[in-house]
Amino acid sequence: MFEQKYPEIKIVEVGPRDGLQNEKKAIATEDKISFINALAEAGLQNIEATSFVKPQAVAQMSDSSEVFEQVFSPLSQKGKVISALIPNMKGFEQALALGIKDIALFTATSELFNKKNINATIDESFERQKLVAQEAKKRGINIRVYISTAFGCPYEGEIPVSQVLNIYKRALEELSADEVAVSDTIGSATPKHVQTVIKAVKKDFGLKKCALHFHDTRGMALCNILTALENEIYIFDSAAGGLGGCPYAKGATGNVATEDLVYLLESLGVSTGIDMDKLSQASSFIFEKIEKSSTSKFLTSYLKAKQSV
Ligand code: HMG
Ligand code: MG
Repeated sequence: MFEQKYPEIKIVEVGPRDGLQNEKKAIATEDKISFINALAEAGLQNIEATSFVKPQAVAQMSDSSEVFEQVFSPLSQKGKVISALIPNMKGFEQALALGIKDIALFTATSELFNKKNINATIDESFERQKLVAQEAKKRGINIRVYISTAFGCPYEGEIPVSQVLNIYKRALEELSADEVAVSDTIGSATPKHVQTVIKAVKKDFGLKKCALHFHDTRGMALCNILTALENEIYIFDSAAGGLGGCPYAKGATGNVATEDLVYLLESLGVSTGIDMDKLSQASSFIFEKIEKSSTSKFLTSYLKAKQSV
């Protein structure tokens, strides 16, 4: 352990979407835009900016068109990848009209979670999103597919690895996924479980397209990421300051904090290109707006140390 030289790591910042979607207090559209711009300025290369979902399902994302329109072109021109979560053809058409080049589709290993989250069975979710994937591919749009509840479901409990593989295969074959984000929706994964899932994915599909998306509900996210790194996963999602949670996974907290992930990676000799001062400013800005404190241990100590200087 720790002897190998890691390749470049791709970080997908999901704070503006996964991080904010669960916030009950309405956040002003211009604050979301400022947050995304600040994340880009801090050096984040891949940012999931919003979701084109039904406003009645997630009110916080109801300004997705305004947010996406304001950030997409300017940041794309700077070489940033600005993506959005898309549930169906209606959401895709809205995003397409704004020029989207990278979409994220989503389904789950669990029937009950899918029913609550997107009002569809697993099969229905594939049928719906197949149409989106076909249209996206015709236009050369990149497709990421999230597999929620891959490490456990709030309604169905344990999920067999065979079911993760089954959904992974369908994401590749039916949705032409360029990237598959195996997701720990409720933050129940542990390193041993993570290694088991990665080995199974590696055996059946290889790991080139595999990303991991950890929520940090039980404080295991960094341990899981370290395990994943040692098992040749090089794409990780995170949210500034550890923002977030899923509206349909009660009690699940935010994604692993981007600051914590960056600190870990830099300590392993991986250059992230992220300016911690600017990232901490972006996080402080948005946490002030949502009137909460960051859960990131690194960010908290970093800000305290700065104040004491
Ligand atoms: P539905 O009600 O079954 O949809 O919702 P429908 O097709 O029956 O349409 C009902 C109405 O909604 C219609 O309007 C549609 O036009 C409208 P009406 O005719 O009644 O006036 N509608 C829409 N409006 C705007 N944008 C749309 C849209 N689609 C339909 N895209 C649906 C099904 C999937 C749309 C809904 O359940 C939904 O939007 N769900 C999203 C839930 C969500 O965002 N969850 C959180 C994100 S997933 C997540 O966080 C997990 C992840 O982070 C990974 C992990 O951690 O596990 C990715
Ligand atoms: Mg999530």
